[in-house]
Amino acid sequence: MGKERLDKIIASMGKWSRREVKELVSRRLVRVDGTVISSAEEKFDPEMVEIFVNGEALCYRRYTWVMLNKPAGYLSATEDGRGKTVLDLLPQELQRQELFPVGRLDKDTEGLLLLTNEGKLAHALLSPKRHVDKVYYARTAGRLTEEDCRAFAGGMSLADGLHCLPAKLEILSAGEESEARVTLREGKFHQVKRMLAERGKPVVYLERIQMGNLSLDGELPRGKYRFLTEVEITNLRALV
Ligand code: URA
Repeated sequence: MGKERLDKIIASMGKWSRREVKELVSRRLVRVDGTVISSAEEKFDPEMVEIFVNGEALCYRRYTWVMLNKPAGYLSATEDGRGKTVLDLLPQELQRQELFPVGRLDKDTEGLLLLTNEGKLAHALLSPKRHVDKVYYARTAGRLTEEDCRAFAGGMSLADGLHCLPAKLEILSAGEESEARVTLREGKFHQVKRMLAERGKPVVYLERIQMGNLSLDGELPRGKYRFLTEVEITNLRALV
């Protein structure tokens, strides 16, 4: 890792903007290897130095991993002329870090979406060879039955030509509108909606609640993000 400007290094943690870092530096609150720094433009290799901001040690991470609780109405893309993207939900400091969504959720699908700038791990998690489970909460129009569960478990071939790996459909409630937990080992375009539509029970609401060993944080409000912890990132690495 080469040298970077100090304000860029500190702002990349997402806690302070570059303007705030300049302010902290001018208040003599930033130390690098024990020395008070007088210019936020000074360059350092963040992996080779110890940075303290206001007495707090900065735990520098080469890559950023963020969990977003995606609301409906946002596209899982980095830019799109047609509308708001999930990046619009992140502060400027994070938007500058070239984060991208790890896989896609449809515009109207809510819930767990990871964003990162660590391409290698992201692509490994998405690789069709890895079969990382994705778990969804779905509400459908129509009564779900055990026959639907068996069809999912058997690996469905859809009328539109899509062949699906065996999947798990767990009925949470069955009625005119039903609720289910769906676990897929792959992530084809609109897959949950297509599979349930094939069974004549179209999805009226969809939320991703888990990806591999990582669950959507129940404390995270819709539309908000938080950084993944070291343990969560290590657990993701263990999947691949
Ligand atoms: N399956 C869908 O149909 N939509 C999603 O957003 C994710 C999985």
